[in-house]
Amino acid sequence: MRRLSIVSTVMIAGFLVLGLAGIATAEKDSGQKLDGRKLFKEYCKPCHTEGSENGEYTPMTYIQDQWEEFFDDDWKDTHADVVDPHHDGQKVLDEITPEMFKAIRDFAIDHAADSEHPMTCG
Ligand code: HEC
Repeated sequence: MRRLSIVSTVMIAGFLVLGLAGIATAEKDSGQKLDGRKLFKEYCKPCHTEGSENGEYTPMTYIQDQWEEFFDDDWKDTHADVVDPHHDGQKVLDEITPEMFKAIRDFAIDHAADSEHPMTCG
């Protein structure tokens, strides 16, 4: 009897681990965790690379406060009429969904000039 309960405990633990791994994978697949670095590279960098006439912007161009101000107050105004030739000529404000915007915002702030890990985004 005792032996049986040990076996079933082990089995239940095993199922739990498998189940959790399954949930983690599902989350990745559904794209809930967007990669801000990749998005920044794909959606911001092409227009803001070194020598760009729009200005060069990488996460470490600004300190955290400046990024917050930019994303929260200035993003919509400064990019309202900007069309993106790198993505089928869509309007920048249409192509970047709120989820993508949040991931990019987090990435820029996490790697701002005064963050613990300043970054250019590669
Ligand atoms: C299709 C090109 C394009 C894309 C894509 C784009 N921008 Fe811009 N960005 C511009 C232009 C044009 C300006 C205005 C430049 C000016 O006013 O001289 C600008 C201005 C800016 C500024 C300066 C704003 C200010 O207050 O003067 C920042 C910061 C910026 N962009 C960051 C970003 C970030 C972050 C992304 C990605 C989420 C992005 N941009 C995507 C074209 C683009």
